[in-house]
Amino acid sequence: MINIAVLGYGTVGSGVVEVIEKNKEMVNKKSAQELNIKYILDLRDFPGDPYEEKVVHDFNLILSDDSVSIVCETMGGVGAAYQFTKQALEKGKSVCTSNKELVARHGPELLAIARDHSCNYLFEASVGGGIPIIRPLNYSLTAEKIEAITGILNGTTNYILSKMEKEGAGFEEVLKEAQENGYAERNPEADVEGYDACRKIAILSSLMMGRNVDSEKVYTEGITNITAADFAYAAAAGRSIKLLARSRAVSEDEVLAMVAPFMIGRDHPLAMVNDVFNAVFVTGNMLGDSMYYGRGAGKLPTASAVVSDVIDCARHQGRVIMCFWDQGNARLSDISSEERSFFIRGKSGEERTVESAFPEGRLIRIEGRAEDFGYFTPVMREKDFMEKCKALEDVVLGRIRLL
Ligand code: HSE
Repeated sequence: MINIAVLGYGTVGSGVVEVIEKNKEMVNKKSAQELNIKYILDLRDFPGDPYEEKVVHDFNLILSDDSVSIVCETMGGVGAAYQFTKQALEKGKSVCTSNKELVARHGPELLAIARDHSCNYLFEASVGGGIPIIRPLNYSLTAEKIEAITGILNGTTNYILSKMEKEGAGFEEVLKEAQENGYAERNPEADVEGYDACRKIAILSSLMMGRNVDSEKVYTEGITNITAADFAYAAAAGRSIKLLARSRAVSEDEVLAMVAPFMIGRDHPLAMVNDVFNAVFVTGNMLGDSMYYGRGAGKLPTASAVVSDVIDCARHQGRVIMCFWDQGNARLSDISSEERSFFIRGKSGEERTVESAFPEGRLIRIEGRAEDFGYFTPVMREKDFMEKCKALEDVVLGRIRLL
C-alpha cells in the first residue's frame, strides 16, 4: 500500500480524491499496489464530507509520517506551496502538482532536490490541464529535436475570444458574462493579460531547451485590446484571432518565446480549437508537426493528470524519472528582430497615410463600416513595425500579429 497526502482540498484537490475513488480498481492495478489517501491538508474543516476524518491542519504531521511517500500539491501559489514541496522532497517524498506558477518559478530547483533525494517532482497538470503534454515532451518525443511549440494554453481567454468571434460581441461584455457563468475568475488579470499562458509556455520552453526559460522575461501581451471590429476584419480575411503562446529554439541555448494575440488562417489546426479547450502544436525535426488537444482546465481533467503522475511515482518508487530541465538559464531572443506581417485597423480617411508608411500591403474594407479600415502589411521586422505604429498613434486604432 502507498500512502498519499493531498495538500489543498479545493477544486483540484477534491478532484484528485474523486479520481482515485472513482477509478480505484484501475488506479490500484496500474500502480501495482493500493493507493491510500491518508491525509488531506487544508485550513478548513469539512463536516459531513466522506473524507472528513482525513483532514489535518498541520503539514508537519504529513512531513514526519514516514509512511507517506507521495504528496499531491494542489494548493497553488508560491508561498506555503513552495516550502511544503521543498520539505517533502527533502524527506524523499515524491510531489505531484498542478501548480504552474510554482513550476515556472522554481521548477529546476525542485527537480534537482527531487533527484538528490531519489524521488520525483511531476507536473503534468501544470500545463494544458488534462491534456498529456509534459509526458510526451519528456518521454515520447525524446528522439526529436523539438524546434517549436505553439499553444492555446489558456481556456478562459480562448472561451472569451471564441464567444466574441461567434457573437460579434465586445471584450468587456463577454468577460462579464464569462465571470457570471463561472468561466472567468472574479479577478481575471492573470488570464486576460496573458500571464497564465506565459508561465505555461515558459515550462514547455524549458522542457524543449533542457534548460530554464525565465517566465518573467517572456514577452507577454493579453487580449484586452481585441475588439469586435478586429474580429469583423479577421472574418473578412478568412482568419480567426487566438491568444497564442509561442516558442522557437533559435540555437542550442537560445529561445524565442512570446505570448500575444495572433490572426491565424482558418485552416490552421489551432483555429479550430474553440471555447475552453486548449491545444499544443509541437514541431519536431523528425516527426514534423503533432498536436495535443483537450480540456485545459476544470476539476476532473486537471485531477486526472495529477493522478497519472501519482501512478507514475508509485511505479517508480526509489527511482528518478528523467526530466531534462537544468538550472542554467536559456538565453531569450529579443522579439524585435522577428519578421512577420501585421494587421492594422486604421482610422477612416487615413488609408493613404497607412499605405505610404507600409507600402505593398493589402487594404480591406467592410461594407457598412464607415469608421475604420483594415490593412495587412507585407512581412517586416517587428521593430520597424512598432516604430512606424508609434509615429502613427492617432491613425492606428488596433494592431494584431499574423501567423
Ligand atoms: N485559468 C486557467 C485557464 C486555468 O483559464 O486556462 C487552468 O490553468
